[in-house]
Amino acid sequence: MNYEELMLRAITKANKFKYTAKPNPVVGAIIIQGSEIISEGYHEVYGKNHAEINAIEEAQKHLGKKFENFSDLSLICTLEPCSHVGKTGSCAEFIVKKGFKKVIIGAIDPNPKVAGRGIKILESNNIEVEYGLFGDLVEKQNKNFFYKHKNNKPYITVKIASSLDGMSHIDTERVFITSESSRNDIQKIRADHDAILTGGNTLRNDDPDMNARVDFSVNPAKKILLTSKPYSNKSKFFKNACVDVFEINNLSKIIDSYKENEICSILVEAGPKLVNSFLKEGIVDELIVYTSEKKLEKRGVNWFQENNAIENYGFKLESSYKIDTDLKEIFKKDG
Ligand SMILES: NC(=O)c1ccc[n+]([C@@H]2O[C@H](COP(=O)([O-])OP(=O)(O)OC[C@H]3O[C@@H](n4cnc5c(N)ncnc54)[C@H](OP(=O)(O)O)[C@@H]3O)[C@@H](O)[C@H]2O)c1
Repeated sequence: MNYEELMLRAITKANKFKYTAKPNPVVGAIIIQGSEIISEGYHEVYGKNHAEINAIEEAQKHLGKKFENFSDLSLICTLEPCSHVGKTGSCAEFIVKKGFKKVIIGAIDPNPKVAGRGIKILESNNIEVEYGLFGDLVEKQNKNFFYKHKNNKPYITVKIASSLDGMSHIDTERVFITSESSRNDIQKIRADHDAILTGGNTLRNDDPDMNARVDFSVNPAKKILLTSKPYSNKSKFFKNACVDVFEINNLSKIIDSYKENEICSILVEAGPKLVNSFLKEGIVDELIVYTSEKKLEKRGVNWFQENNAIENYGFKLESSYKIDTDLKEIFKKDG
């Protein structure tokens, strides 16, 4: 196998751990001697070993059998080895300590704590480094992680379910607007996000849990509640969740508070008041609308006060699909 094939293999296999590595990026590493694979490692679980460490620990088992010395080996790694000591040690230092001959990297880590420092550590210790091999694929695979570090804010998605006549809910009773298939689709969107945010009224009126009910393992999302009024922390939203509660209503300030930590994506699931505030603030990157065939008519509460509100907020339709009897539309910011 050549470097291209090995990098593609590492990228593809790393994806298996997308939901258990989050909010960390997925990373794969392969150790070779010539064209023979000695070992592979992946970042499987958030907070646990990085991919390079797993690959090196696996290689260690074959020392003296498949190979004689680490200096005969090259390491292929989808993301730049980290330079900083976080939950685990510095991978770059560990690679140096083992004495690898060469390291081939997919993408440079956009995290300012790394951003080329990992490569510098390797190079200044006489390890040959190549980087940029399928870096665009690594970036696409970890799009929220790259977005966060490039834009200094998490990627924000707002999801709404709307009746055919543009309503969000009925104030006095709880109604399901969309089909079961759409509601199942939303579970996967929740699984994809690092945090789920809602408003006080939705919490008090609906008592939603907003967990990702999926049939695969997924790290539970952080929960974020915005309310200045009393609430019960016995609400389902708090069950098995780490919840940040904000009493302030300055949305930019709230979102800003996530720029230093690991949360790379936030899903907003709230009613018209908070959703419109988010859209007005101009900090939303993606809007997902599920529209059913049902009408709520006079009893319903409108999502928006004006026609073409979504377009007026600067969004353009990117794609649309039929889900059962509903329509799912994805809007992204114009330009
Ligand atoms: N169809 C759907 O997709 C969907 C999804 C979720 C909810 N809902 C429905 O929405 C209803 C509630 O909607 P809602 O519009 O009354 O409430 P909401 O949007 O869920 O929450 C609004 C609350 O958020 C808090 N908040 C903090 N900062 C804010 C800001 N900058 N702007 C606006 N609100 C801010 C305030 O809480 P405090 O007043 O507590 O301080 C405010 O009252 C629920 O009954 C639910 O059924 C529908």
